[in-house]
Amino acid sequence: MMSTEELLEQVKQAAKDAGKIMLGASDIREATTQKEGHSNFVTEYDKKVQEFLYKRLGEILPEAAFMGEEEGEGIFKEEYKTGYLYVIDPIDGTTNFITGYYPAVTSIGLMKDGKPYLGVVYDPFGDNLFWAVKGMGAYHNGKRIHSSKKPLAESVVAIGTTPYYPELFDKSLDLAKEYLKRCMDIRRSGTAAWDLCLVASGIAGLCYELVLCLWDYAAGAVILEEAGGKLTDEKGNELRYDGNSAVIAVSEGVAKEEYLFTK
Ligand code: IPD
Ligand code: CA
Repeated sequence: MMSTEELLEQVKQAAKDAGKIMLGASDIREATTQKEGHSNFVTEYDKKVQEFLYKRLGEILPEAAFMGEEEGEGIFKEEYKTGYLYVIDPIDGTTNFITGYYPAVTSIGLMKDGKPYLGVVYDPFGDNLFWAVKGMGAYHNGKRIHSSKKPLAESVVAIGTTPYYPELFDKSLDLAKEYLKRCMDIRRSGTAAWDLCLVASGIAGLCYELVLCLWDYAAGAVILEEAGGKLTDEKGNELRYDGNSAVIAVSEGVAKEEYLFTK
């Protein structure tokens, strides 16, 4: 097997090449269809990027299983708990991609024996490449990153609105109100993978969403943890990496205080 460094280089290159597909997209609205759930869309480019990554990442690590958002069932299987598993979101922030409200990113997570091991998140619109490998630190465009040491009161909070689950709108926005009372201000980027990178790089102090899919946070989780941050579910339990979950992710500074407000 190749070295970790070589593996990382190749996965980074795959993310950059996926970004070229996003940058080359045209007539995106015409290439868009509705998926199940409220306002949940997919474009031909989501599928193209996934197909591209499936092939390229498979060549890099043929023994790895593969779970991607646009791949039929996208359900976590028991057998994924051993060995390598790629968990990818070809375009995280599809609504941003369609409307031009950037960023929209490619998120590539590699899990090893059921735990996040390597993560690469690439925003081709701003050429921002984030990566981390367990035990090797987190980086943004070649520079080591660390989450913030500031308390919540001196931080911005990136909120997730659970856009595909209208039954959770009230709870999601009630939580936004709680944080708004306690932080500098709230923000909504439209991509959960990006929000995790914002916390990892010390820009935001906390980000949350009451339902995320594994492909939204598998890569960002290792980047944030390697940057000194922490992820839990909405009750503060250790995050599970076997399907959908609520995710509350915090910087080193915010982790020191009481930051969970879900009943
Ligand atoms: C979505 C984005 C968004 C979050 C949704 C996700 P998608 O991913 O991460 O920020 O609010 O819950 O599903 O659908 O654009 O890949
Ligand atoms: Ca997606």
